[in-house]
Amino acid sequence: MTGEPSTRHVVVMGVSGAGKTTVAHGIAASTGLTFAEADEFHSEANVTRMRAGVPLDDDARWPWLRALADWMAARHREGVSTVLACSALKRSYRDLLRQGPPGVDFVHLDGPTEVIRERMSLRAGHYMPPSLLDSQTATLEPLWPDERAVLLDLRLSTEELVAEAVRRLGLPVRGGAATVPAAAERHPEASRTP
Ligand SMILES: Nc1ncnc2c1ncn2[C@@H]1O[C@H](COP(=O)(O)OP(=O)(O)OP(=O)(O)O)[C@@H](O)[C@H]1O
Ligand SMILES: [Mg+2]
Repeated sequence: MTGEPSTRHVVVMGVSGAGKTTVAHGIAASTGLTFAEADEFHSEANVTRMRAGVPLDDDARWPWLRALADWMAARHREGVSTVLACSALKRSYRDLLRQGPPGVDFVHLDGPTEVIRERMSLRAGHYMPPSLLDSQTATLEPLWPDERAVLLDLRLSTEELVAEAVRRLGLPVRGGAATVPAAAERHPEASRTP
């Protein structure tokens, strides 16, 4: 025994408007995992840049991702499980996040750009302009087969997405028993088959 606490750390990923914040909140509500919004870990300079519609380059992202990994690692040391809403578009970004706590599971919300564009056009008071969607879609590197992750279709309802993520990751449900996912379901390729 190492005395290490046992925690779970989930990152809900996808392009802007995919539903990350909505679904991550839902997972937090249903499991009791502590929620965080990755956008809130950005420096002032990064926020100003995004407000101007200028995509962040990787040099601007590394310290942000480091801060997120550090936050998850710190919660792990406290024995606290977390769920983070974070775009995590590239494999290299996800690799950095995985350097935080001992285990990180990703939930990729994926679906047609038109659906996301329509949702974003309805959304008010958010600093990410819809023009960034194209650059995000171009940047997105889908999950690799070796990543601990599930792929979900963002056209499902929020309730369905939350329930699927909780079930397939085997997260503990508040006031209920943990569900155990089939090994194949933890593999992103498995969810691409009809
Ligand atoms: N499953 C869903 N079905 C219908 N509408 C949804 C669903 N999930 C999210 N939405 C709506 O889509 C919009 C975008 O959702 P949300 O803000 O959660 O996305 P996001 O990925 O966090 O975006 P951003 O990257 O800009 O932070 C919101 O208006 C939200 O209410
Ligand atoms: Mg969000």
